[in-house]
Amino acid sequence: MNMSCSLAFLALLLCLSFVAAECIFPVIFNFGDSNSDTGGHAASYGDQLGYPVGRLLSNQPTGRLSDGRLVLDFLCENLNTSYLTPYLLSLEPNFTNGANFAISGAAALPKTTLFNLAIQVQQFKLFRNRSIEFQSNGFKNLLGEEDFKRALYTIDIGQNDLWIAQSYPEVIQKIPSVISEIREALRAIYYLAGGKNFWVHNTGPLGCLPASLANRKTNATTDYDENGCLTRLNEGAKEFNAKLKALCQELRREMKNSTIVYVDIYSIKYDLIANAASYGFQNPLMACYGCGGPPYNSDPECRGGNSVCEVGSSYISWDGVHYTEAANAVVASKILSTNYSVPPLKIDFFLNNIIAGTSNGAQGPVQAPTGMPGCPYWRILAHLGHVMISTCDDSDQSNRSCE
Ligand SMILES: *[C@@H]1O[C@H](CO)[C@@H](O)[C@H](O)[C@H]1NC(C)=O
Ligand SMILES: *[C@@H]1O[C@H](CO)[C@@H](O)[C@H](O)[C@H]1NC(C)=O
Ligand SMILES: *[C@@H]1O[C@H](CO)[C@@H](O)[C@H](O)[C@H]1NC(C)=O
Ligand SMILES: *[C@@H]1O[C@H](CO)[C@@H](O)[C@H](O)[C@H]1NC(C)=O
Ligand SMILES: *[C@@H]1O[C@H](CO)[C@@H](O)[C@H](O)[C@H]1NC(C)=O
Ligand SMILES: *[C@@H]1O[C@H](CO)[C@@H](O)[C@H](O)[C@H]1NC(C)=O
Ligand SMILES: *[C@@H]1O[C@H](CO)[C@@H](O)[C@H](O)[C@H]1NC(C)=O
Repeated sequence: MNMSCSLAFLALLLCLSFVAAECIFPVIFNFGDSNSDTGGHAASYGDQLGYPVGRLLSNQPTGRLSDGRLVLDFLCENLNTSYLTPYLLSLEPNFTNGANFAISGAAALPKTTLFNLAIQVQQFKLFRNRSIEFQSNGFKNLLGEEDFKRALYTIDIGQNDLWIAQSYPEVIQKIPSVISEIREALRAIYYLAGGKNFWVHNTGPLGCLPASLANRKTNATTDYDENGCLTRLNEGAKEFNAKLKALCQELRREMKNSTIVYVDIYSIKYDLIANAASYGFQNPLMACYGCGGPPYNSDPECRGGNSVCEVGSSYISWDGVHYTEAANAVVASKILSTNYSVPPLKIDFFLNNIIAGTSNGAQGPVQAPTGMPGCPYWRILAHLGHVMISTCDDSDQSNRSCE
């Protein structure tokens, strides 16, 4: 092979590789409370949250209110991506695959309180502006405008709004304004950032949390349902969920080309509690980590004197409010089954959408090419033709542009 020929051959190879593919990562932005806080509260308040919190994960505090992984962690694992980095993490953050704005204790209302939903969305807007600006200035591992459009936006909020309300009438009265905050959050992501992919969790059965039960002990058997949960609190949660579901429907019509998956966490968690034994759990209404002993081990009066159970995996509740890793794993697998989703789309539907180069929810999933290690997802760039290769020799017949 002479010089001009091998150069042309190299050029052809270059051409082909330009045609081939672009490596892309899934991008997820999450908003919410402790149910999906992967260290945001710890980063912003400087909490330690040492042993036994996070005892299944590492010897380092993980900032998660559980003994191990959260539902969101399992969803990330399913998408083969790293756990989400809290937006406020100051040391060595990695935002290649998105960011987590969720902070324990967050609610939708009041909207100006740190770090409630409206503040999280405000942080997101700033993050987006800065990320696009820095990326265009050549900084690596930051996200560009297209990444914000293709990203999956997950949201799990409302539990604290219901929790704070004192009575059932107050809960019912509060719901429309909480829903309104969630509406504004989703609209801001769509209209300002071009986000089209949404994954909305409804709220769980508040009346089955050991902390709720221990806080609101009553002697009236009519206050409890057949599984020992507080009826009124659960009715409040169900009412909230009905309105949230209606909001998703409303926004699907308004926000053209968006895909909004509504996931019924309530049914998943209630089923888990009602049929605890069949999932291998022994004490559905008792916390592993708490105090006061049976029946709830969540006595609000003896905080500080907590003891921890030996086998967390036989408990659903970790600390009276948050679930154990074992319970979160079951919840996540149910979420991933699509049985509780409207519409019943798999979470990787959104990744397939990316590969197809469209966020149009009406399009069917497109299969990712296989056998390309080292990168989770590839976008095929089919129309980069007519690249001029100046190294080619005039006399060579193969100096054609790439088609
Ligand atoms: C994640 O990786 C596993 C194992 O390589 C693979 O079977 C699965 O399809 C991947 N999931 C996604 C969403 O790409
Ligand atoms: C950052 O996250 C990306 C995506 O999850 C991962 O591939 C990469 O290895 C991470 N970088 C570092 C330095 O950990
Ligand atoms: C983001 O950038 C837009 C356009 O420059 C600007 O109007 C907006 O105020 C910025 N938002 C934040 C939170 O920085
Ligand atoms: C329930 O009844 C017991 C025994 O009669 C009484 O000591 C307790 O204070 C009652 N609790 C409430 C919340 O009414
Ligand atoms: C919706 O998607 C279609 C097809 O990709 C596109 O032509 C249209 O402009 C989009 N509409 C909006 C409002 O984004
Ligand atoms: C989902 O529903 C199908 C059909 O009803 C059922 O076979 C399957 O076990 C369900 N999966 C989960 C995780 O509930
Ligand atoms: C090769 O390239 C030269 C100039 O770049 C051009 O004049 C010539 O027509 C090309 N040959 C073919 C076969 O395309």
